[in-house]
Amino acid sequence: MVTVDVTFVTSNPGKVAEVRRIFSDFDIGVRWSRRELPEPQSDRLEDVVRAKLRAAHRPGQAVVVEDSGLFVDALRGFPGVYSRFALDTIGLEGVLRVAKGQIRSARFRAVAGFRRGRTEILTEGEVRGELSGRPKGTGGFGFDPIFIPAGERETFAQMSAEGKDALSHRGLAMRSLARRIAALDGK
Ligand code: IMP
Repeated sequence: MVTVDVTFVTSNPGKVAEVRRIFSDFDIGVRWSRRELPEPQSDRLEDVVRAKLRAAHRPGQAVVVEDSGLFVDALRGFPGVYSRFALDTIGLEGVLRVAKGQIRSARFRAVAGFRRGRTEILTEGEVRGELSGRPKGTGGFGFDPIFIPAGERETFAQMSAEGKDALSHRGLAMRSLARRIAALDGK
């Protein structure tokens, strides 16, 4: 039985599918508000999430937002907060080209935010891994076909959706957010 509802504000349908699946384990229902929120120029995901929460806030509504990115160690964290821009411009192949010949270690990081009235919660999740030599797999979205989490052989795009959730930055950030939301409501 779903006992809490939140509104997830994002333009990314891939994130919505993941958050719905993760929150359903905590009996939290997710409504999708398909909107692009303004993002400040900042290299910190936390700053972006706080700004998104301010923009998404509606009186009487519980809102959830998220910001995430792929940080390649050899590129000093690029594309990071600019991940979507990098994907839209140079694409997966472009990122692989820039990283070619370098050490391939990278991490995905997500910061999730919740706001209801004056209550604000931020959580984060990170998964380390490495870039694959070429894109592999058809699942997920964004950089999933080129990221292999540490200790695994497959990219996120080759795994089942639940397999990715169990390991991913978003899985980690959203499970800790869901636990905190459930605790707020005395469950
Ligand atoms: P945001 O909407 O500004 O948070 O953009 C995040 C971007 O980072 C996405 O558009 C993807 O390019 C990338 N990204 C974040 N999380 C993931 C993921 O779980 N898989 C693949 N790419 C991701």
